[in-house]
Amino acid sequence: MDGAFFVSLPKNILIMVATLEIPVTRAERSKLNDINLENLPFGKYFTDHMLEADFENGEWKNVEIKPYQPLLIEPSNAALHYGQSIFEGVKAYKNAEGQSAIFRPYDNFRRFNISAERMMMPQVPEEIFVEGMKQLVTLDSNWIPNKADHSLYIRPFMFATDEVIGVKPSETYKFMILLSPTGPYYSAPMRIYVEEQFVRAVPGGVGFAKCAGNYGASMYPTAQVKKLGYDQVLWMDAIEHKYVQEIGTMNVFFIIGNKAITPGLLSGTILAGVTRDSVIELLKTMGLTVEERDLSIDEITEAYQSGELKEVFGTGTAATISMIKELRYKDFVMEFDTDTWVSCPEVKRRMDAIKYGTAADQFGWMVGV
Ligand code: COI
Repeated sequence: MDGAFFVSLPKNILIMVATLEIPVTRAERSKLNDINLENLPFGKYFTDHMLEADFENGEWKNVEIKPYQPLLIEPSNAALHYGQSIFEGVKAYKNAEGQSAIFRPYDNFRRFNISAERMMMPQVPEEIFVEGMKQLVTLDSNWIPNKADHSLYIRPFMFATDEVIGVKPSETYKFMILLSPTGPYYSAPMRIYVEEQFVRAVPGGVGFAKCAGNYGASMYPTAQVKKLGYDQVLWMDAIEHKYVQEIGTMNVFFIIGNKAITPGLLSGTILAGVTRDSVIELLKTMGLTVEERDLSIDEITEAYQSGELKEVFGTGTAATISMIKELRYKDFVMEFDTDTWVSCPEVKRRMDAIKYGTAADQFGWMVGV
């Protein structure tokens, strides 16, 4: 850490808070005017700056913000061969007064370090992850779209940088943050295929970690269902192929009667989504009972047949809240008229109101930059 200052707490206790003065090299020219912010595909455009830091000899160093640019990587880079690579997804929003804030970055910071531990990677300090993120977002705050369903997607990530192809944890790593202005991830309600052959995660595996390989491994099964006209798969548990897990890259919620049910986190096969957690809190404020538990596909089909299954939706940082209009299990097709839904639109409305600053932030989720 480069410096330190003292803060005075209410009871006059002095604590030392480390500060990190991050050197900034500004881009000579902004690319902002080259981009049409009206029609933004997810993850295609990046802002003028990025944050970079290196882990060497057991410590983080070379923390800097600099113009977005390519990396020079050796072909023997360990992450390319063995996949020590993790990431997060976070979003920054602008309110009507033009003030910028990040949605729950401390939660993503904690989850990032849980992923790091599972992948035998070093912990990233809060000063780099959260404070670095705030400084980067402040520098590129002109890039935060000022429009409904739009935001600045923040992508912190870390990967191994040893130039050795022996199979062992790398001794060196790079941590980076990129920013990408973005619109809605899915533009319409989705068609989902219940996947019975391929699995996303097994108990004891890495399902709870946001590691790159989880996403790479999902592409083949997803491509198969896309050929059948579906948008994504509904992953089932790896042992019995009976209990629902996640939808594509999202957590999943089922509204059955006046309950909201989402798979629990105890098996270690589900990503502890920050949006998932936020939706749970908001559903409770709407008077719904929320259950985090095993939910079998049989319970779902029975609830559909009895008319109790009202709504199905996915949640994630990129996709926020996405309605499911069709769920296919074997030859059984469950269809929904999403125009009649109540809970999913309301939870999205409440979440957006907090994010875009039109409602009080009762949970303290927004972190100003
Ligand atoms: C996110 O919601 O941030 C995700 O992880 C999905 C992403 C891989 C596009």
